[in-house]
Amino acid sequence: MPAEQLPPTEAPEVLTVELGDRSYPIVIGSGVLDELGQRLKQVLSPRGCAVVTNPTVAKIYLARTLRSLREAGFAPLTIEVPDGEEHKSLASLKLIYDRLATAKIERSSPLIALGGGVIGDLTGFAAATYLRGVPYVQVPTTLLAQVDSSVGGKTGVDLPAGKNLVGAFYQPRLVVADIGTILTLPRREVVAGLVEVIKYGVILDAELFLLLENEIERILDLDLSRLQELVRRCCAIKADVVRRDEREADFRSILNFGHTLGHAVETLTGYKRYLHGEAVAVGMAFAAKLSRVRNLCSVDTERRIVGLLQRTGLDVAVPAGLEVADIAAAVGGDKKVENGRVKFVCVEEIGRARFEMVTSQEIGRLAVQGSAEVE
Ligand code: NAD
Ligand code: GLY
Repeated sequence: MPAEQLPPTEAPEVLTVELGDRSYPIVIGSGVLDELGQRLKQVLSPRGCAVVTNPTVAKIYLARTLRSLREAGFAPLTIEVPDGEEHKSLASLKLIYDRLATAKIERSSPLIALGGGVIGDLTGFAAATYLRGVPYVQVPTTLLAQVDSSVGGKTGVDLPAGKNLVGAFYQPRLVVADIGTILTLPRREVVAGLVEVIKYGVILDAELFLLLENEIERILDLDLSRLQELVRRCCAIKADVVRRDEREADFRSILNFGHTLGHAVETLTGYKRYLHGEAVAVGMAFAAKLSRVRNLCSVDTERRIVGLLQRTGLDVAVPAGLEVADIAAAVGGDKKVENGRVKFVCVEEIGRARFEMVTSQEIGRLAVQGSAEVE
C-alpha cells in the first residue's frame, strides 16, 4: 500500500488558536486530508475555491484534496506554482492573482494552501491581499509547516534583497495537518522540521525535550503516533504564543531561538548549502554556547541541546571560512535589530528562555571562535 494511503493510527485531534472572532481550529491526524471538505464546510458554506500547490505535492496529494472538496460541495480550481523557495516571489503572486481574477474568484471564496511553508506563506499573502482579503486554509504537508509556518498568520514572499521582506499578519480560517503526508517527505526535510520541534522543547517545554531525547530514533523512523504527538504539542505551544502576542510585539520573538545566527548562515552561504532548519540548528547550538559563555545556562544544558541536534545527523558547527565582519553585518541586517543590538534569545535551562541584548560584533566574534560544539 503506498505510504500516502496508510490507514489512520490515532483519532484526529483538534486544537484552537484563540483570537476572539478570528479564532480557528487546527485539525491534526493521519488521514485528515480526506476530511478537508467536511471540515471546511463547518467553517464556510460550499462555494468556489482555489487550491494553490506545486507539482511535487500535486503529484501525491492533489487528487485526494480535490475529491474531498468536491464531495463536500466545493468547486475547486487548481493553481500550480513551481516548487522551491525561489518561487516564493512576486512573480508567483502575480500568477496566482491572474488566475483568481480570470476565474472570477469572489471575496468569500477560500484559497487552500496545499504544501510546505513556501506554498503556505505565498498563498496566505495572496489571500491577505486579493480583493483586500479572502479566507484561506492551511493544509501543511511538511513537518516544518505542520509545527510552525501553518499556524500564526505570518504570510509573505521574498524579494531579491532578502527573505520575507513583503508580508502581512493574516490568520487562516482552518488548518488541516495530515501527519501521514510526512511519510513521503525526503528525510532531509523531516530532519529540518525536527529542528523546529527541538526548538520548542528548548525554549518552552522541557517535557517535550525529554520525549525527544528518549525517542529520537523512533521519531526519525517516522512512527506516526509519536509524530502526531509532536505536531500536537508544537501546535499547542505556537497557538499559545500567538494568542499572547499575535503581532510579535515582544513575546512571540522567543520563537526566533537559533534564528539570528541561522539566518546569517543562510544569507552568507547564498541560501544553497543549508535548508532553513539546518541553518537554525547551527544557530541553536550557537545560542546555547552564547548562553553558557554568559553564564545564563550550564554546560550540561548546552551539551543536551547540541547532543540532541547531533543525534538527528546534523552538523551544527558554524561553517568554516566565515569572517567576523560578515557575520556581524548579516546579523545587523536582521529585522529584529534595535539600536545596533540584537534581541537575542538565550536559554536558561531546558524549557526556559530569555531575551538578551547582544551586539552583532559579539555574535560574529563568538561564532568564529572554534566550532559550536561544547569545548
Ligand atoms: P518547502 O515548502 O519548500 O517544502 C520542502 C520541499 O518538500 C519542497 O520541495 C516541497 O515541494 C516538498 N514537499 C512538501 N510536502 C511534501 C510531501 N508531503 N512529500 C514530499 N515532498 C513534499 O519548505 P518548508 O520547510 O515546508 O517551508 C520553508 C518555508 O517556510 C520558508 O519559506 C520559510 O520562510 C517559511 N516559514 C514560514 C514561517 C511562518 O511563520 N510563516 C515559519 C517558518 C518557516
Ligand atoms: N516562525 C516564527 C513565528 O511564527 O513567529
